[in-house]
Amino acid sequence: MKERIEAMSLFADGTIRQAMRTIDKGGLGVAFLIESQTGRFVGLVTDGDVRRALLGGYGLESPVSQVPRPDPKVAYVGMALYQIAGLLSEPVRVVPLLDDDARVVDLALFDQRMHLPVAEPSLGARELQYVSDCILTGWISSAGKYVKQFEEVWADFCGSSYAVSTSSGTGALHLAILALGIGPGDEVIVPSLTFIATANAVTYTGAKPVFVDSELATWNIDPNEIEKAITSKTKAIIPVHLYGHPADMDPILEIASHYGLAVIEDAAEAHGAFYKGRSVGSIGDAGVFSFYGNKIITTGEGGMVVTDNVDIAEKIRLLRDHGMSPDRRYWHHEIGYNYRLTNLQAAVGVAQMEKAGDILEAKKHIAELYESGLKDVRGISLPPKAKWASSVCWLYSILVDDEKTGGGRDELMAELSKAGIETRPFFPPAHMQPIYNTGQSLPVAEYLSMNGLSLPSAIKLRQEEINHVIDTIVSVSTSPACTIRG
Ligand SMILES: Cc1ncc(COP(=O)(O)O)c(C=O)c1O
Repeated sequence: MKERIEAMSLFADGTIRQAMRTIDKGGLGVAFLIESQTGRFVGLVTDGDVRRALLGGYGLESPVSQVPRPDPKVAYVGMALYQIAGLLSEPVRVVPLLDDDARVVDLALFDQRMHLPVAEPSLGARELQYVSDCILTGWISSAGKYVKQFEEVWADFCGSSYAVSTSSGTGALHLAILALGIGPGDEVIVPSLTFIATANAVTYTGAKPVFVDSELATWNIDPNEIEKAITSKTKAIIPVHLYGHPADMDPILEIASHYGLAVIEDAAEAHGAFYKGRSVGSIGDAGVFSFYGNKIITTGEGGMVVTDNVDIAEKIRLLRDHGMSPDRRYWHHEIGYNYRLTNLQAAVGVAQMEKAGDILEAKKHIAELYESGLKDVRGISLPPKAKWASSVCWLYSILVDDEKTGGGRDELMAELSKAGIETRPFFPPAHMQPIYNTGQSLPVAEYLSMNGLSLPSAIKLRQEEINHVIDTIVSVSTSPACTIRG
């Protein structure tokens, strides 16, 4: 870095010609002006400043100090990353970082600007130790002790009799649906507002996903809408515990039992959440989890099915391993898949589970900070909190809605981005996706999708960083030009 900064610096008593050479050498379109006696930063010229100066009548030998230019944006050692990120923008792509003596010690670059992340895995020494163990012992594929350990610890975590790991949450859904005997000609009820994998896994089996609207009270499938979607072909319901809030399982189970339907819970986003004292995923015939890198517990990529039904568990074990007969190697009675989790991934999962309590606690703290900071902000609705639910903060998500003008979510996202804050809009509803495009009108799912926004929820975030998010939302929502005033 020192060399790079030196290449970008010239003495402030130099000429425009020298500045052009320095800009050329540095390759970032700017040169730092340094006081020759002290080495202190005194200004910054861009290639645009120089071009305008030459066009305005300055010569190549004119002093660079006379080039007209705006005051430079500078950062100081000790500034929080979000504050530095807030200085960067499309036109200000390079900001020097100065020490107490005003010497340039580092650079902040627009292309590498720091965003407060929506999600980020929390990986440490234990993950490294267990992964190293796999490498040192050569157990890097799907055989190896960590796969079994991870399955055992996950079954225990959910209070389920069996846990079968898979290579992804999508694979877990696919196999759970197949294991329940669902296939071509069948229909499976899913909420339209979910990540697309829920619906696609149904489609993989040859069955048809039937989309149902959500309810405002939980942002999950509306149990009152399910019955209308049941036909003679319906075989199962897949409630999704979206963004970490449990779906209202009792009425769903009641409908399922009345019509003889299976229930597969998609708990990909809700590790550690409870419904009326029962761990989500353990309530239906089978429950499915994802361990993708942005999930509460991660293995990089990975998934799990939990169930109390030994037949379902065995069927999934068979299907995830090419359908190979447990009694005879390389002998296949049915077509299976390679959906196995690797020992390397499971090693990460085992390490993650050793600190699952801390991760969930940190998530809870983030949710509490957001709740207290945003509860009175007009135009912002906090995530649902049903009295029977113990939800987890996968991603702290809000609704941004101005009753008068409608919307405001996208404008808020843009303002947050300028302040170095990453956000995610809610999923577009599956019934409106080009691959399904059913022509249905599902107003709650559509409303939530248009107005929902997930905020930075990575557990590494410090309180002051969450406060920065809150302050930015407050300042946007109270600014006169804002469209989200309620
Ligand atoms: C609700 C839901 N279902 C299923 C999945 C699929 O999981 P994976 O990405 O591990 O395949 C996800 C993943 O993001 C999800 O959010």
